[in-house]
Amino acid sequence: MQLTDHIRAIPDYPKPGIVFRDITPLLADGAAFKHTVDTLVARYRDQGITKIVGIEARGFIFATALAYALGVGFVPLRKPGKLPRQVVSQRYALEYGEDELQLHADDITATDKVLIIDDLLATGGTVLAAVALVQALGAEIVECSFVITLHDLPGAERLNQAQIPYYTLCEF
Ligand code: PRP
Ligand code: ADE
Repeated sequence: MQLTDHIRAIPDYPKPGIVFRDITPLLADGAAFKHTVDTLVARYRDQGITKIVGIEARGFIFATALAYALGVGFVPLRKPGKLPRQVVSQRYALEYGEDELQLHADDITATDKVLIIDDLLATGGTVLAAVALVQALGAEIVECSFVITLHDLPGAERLNQAQIPYYTLCEF
């Protein structure tokens, strides 16, 4: 199955000059979505992962499916003001703006082996904020995993430099 056939390029969205990679055709195709999740399940079963961290919002889609299939806990990284209990927070720059991620401080402990999941890696700002939050709670990061990597942006190189293992299902 060629996953890239199920991802649409939308020019100049959400800003001029950005080619938005739209995963909704992949999600709407049962076989393509199942293939995506099954590929991740095959890679991450038997790795001793105890928590799957998903990044709001598109990361939740793949992270929850994978957590369910592996029978391990799902932990949401959310945009500010959404989590009701004590949080740890990290601001970051995006390809098209700036944002902040928060994590419930007691959702992850130092004994956890964590997989971080998002739909797409671009500048790496989002995932490096996620890495900082998980590391702040003392957990081990097994890998950061993406459906898509944009190879003309520095995300993969930044993860490499930070010595964080990284995996992607496809690239543009
Ligand atoms: C998108 C995407 C990643 C992030 C990647 O999320 O889902 O989380 O950008 O970009 P980066 O590598 O340059 O940080 P967005 O903030 O648009 O939020 P959404 O998932 O809620 O649409
Ligand atoms: N997140 C950051 N850059 C993106 C892009 N080009 N397409 C879809 N999501 C993104």
